[in-house]
Amino acid sequence: MRPAWDEGVVQKDPSLFADVPTSPEDIELDDRLMAGLGHGCRGLFITFEGLDGTGKSTQMELLAERLRAAGHSLVTTREPGGTALGEAVREALLAKGEGEHEMDPKAEAFLYTAARVQLVEEVIRPALEAGEIVLCDRYIDSSLAYQGYGRELGYENIISMNMWAVDGLLPDLTLVMLAPEAVRRRRLSGAEADRLESSGDDFFRRVEDGYRRLVADHPYRIRAVDAGGDVHEVGDRVLEVLREELDLDLAPQSR
Ligand code: TMP
Repeated sequence: MRPAWDEGVVQKDPSLFADVPTSPEDIELDDRLMAGLGHGCRGLFITFEGLDGTGKSTQMELLAERLRAAGHSLVTTREPGGTALGEAVREALLAKGEGEHEMDPKAEAFLYTAARVQLVEEVIRPALEAGEIVLCDRYIDSSLAYQGYGRELGYENIISMNMWAVDGLLPDLTLVMLAPEAVRRRRLSGAEADRLESSGDDFFRRVEDGYRRLVADHPYRIRAVDAGGDVHEVGDRVLEVLREELDLDLAPQSR
């Protein structure tokens, strides 16, 4: 299956990929770590996705610990945020407004994208160019799931504006954490809901369906991970995907 940027949505610059192996079959362990697949840089870009309460942030931290312990040079960051501008935009996005007007869905989509551009240019691309591994808590797929499907702005609109915004920089691997609603609610109980988390059940059903569609439509880049169960069991599932997709072999956590 061809990745989204290869489907005529945007024209990528072929010179970016001149020296980079682009077929998974052609790539050995070191090439995978050094060459990247979808961004033309030497580093490795892995993103974590899912609804709130699926444990994606915890799993990203756990993976970061494992990678550091194995001697890899690593940058971890999150969206929206990760830069001064991004954190300011995050506040605007997640605050529950007292004003008369709700945030317009398109304004929301542009704000997430603006924070993303700053993070890509200030943090992610420089780290990838330096050959580092970048782990990011949410990226473009959050906008596709939440704004494209959840707010019903449409996949095409969101992918087009984002591919333009980040000059086609896509992750090498995206892990979508999927957990039943009861598990998510239990994990979230106690924490005060932010503006996005206060959206209705129908919205979250559309977001979850959106994530499932993304997994089905982009098997080349996106893998679903069963996020139910003990944190270390889930961690082992994450490691298994990394082993299968990237030949990155890290010792399991639960044994
Ligand atoms: P977080 O709680 O995982 O830090 O994410 C903040 C919220 O922002 C979460 O409810 C998901 C939402 N979000 C979007 O709606 N679109 C996006 O592009 C991103 C990055 C996050």
